[in-house]
Amino acid sequence: PSVPVLTIDGPSGSGKGTISALVAERLGWRLLDSGALYRAVGYAAGMAGLDLSDVEAMTRCAHSTKIQFRAAPDGGETRVIVNGHDATDELRTETAGAAASAIASMPTVREALVALQLGFRKAPGLVADGRDMGTVIFPDAAFKVFLTASAAERAKRRYKQLKEKGLSVTLGGLQREIEARDNRDASRAVAPLKPAEDALLVDTTGMSIDQVVAKVLAVVQP
Ligand code: C5P
Repeated sequence: PSVPVLTIDGPSGSGKGTISALVAERLGWRLLDSGALYRAVGYAAGMAGLDLSDVEAMTRCAHSTKIQFRAAPDGGETRVIVNGHDATDELRTETAGAAASAIASMPTVREALVALQLGFRKAPGLVADGRDMGTVIFPDAAFKVFLTASAAERAKRRYKQLKEKGLSVTLGGLQREIEARDNRDASRAVAPLKPAEDALLVDTTGMSIDQVVAKVLAVVQP
């Protein structure tokens, strides 16, 4: 039998990242943070001084960027190493998110990252976090969840998260950036942000992290 996959898709600030990490830990499964791949390519392109709207350059960059995930020794946040440089802090900024979203609309950039993502599927199982995990990358996944939350709640969560990390942001500005990014992600021609037909939709507005984790775990272990 093939290695089981749980896909967790949804817009930014829906809690995907947090929930995926907790659920993967509880199941003892591997984790794929696919958003980090797009962020890493955008970051590498910026470091190389490339034009983010140049499809050929971005596609080459997606093929050549070396991305590694390294577990923190203290059990803390997983580090993302891009071309040998620890870019974890730079990758979580809204600027990196916007760059990721821009290049993620390019079909050839997406294709360049497919094999890498499929490679994460290893025993005993995989939790895959992203926008198109259940629709494009792992359409055969046994378990699929689509997380949502109201735009206001998502902006609030993101605001708290970035503040805690010491970044300077405003709630209004963040809400506008998040809405712009979601609109672009949902309206693009390739792999748009949308729930797989067989995904369980969970609106997390007003739910605690523990409640969402329990609900998602129940999909895998009824
Ligand atoms: O999830 P995260 O906010 O890190 O993703 C950053 C951007 O990368 C998203 O706004 C989206 O444009 C893109 N992305 C994607 N497909 C994925 C994951 C992320 O297009 N599977």
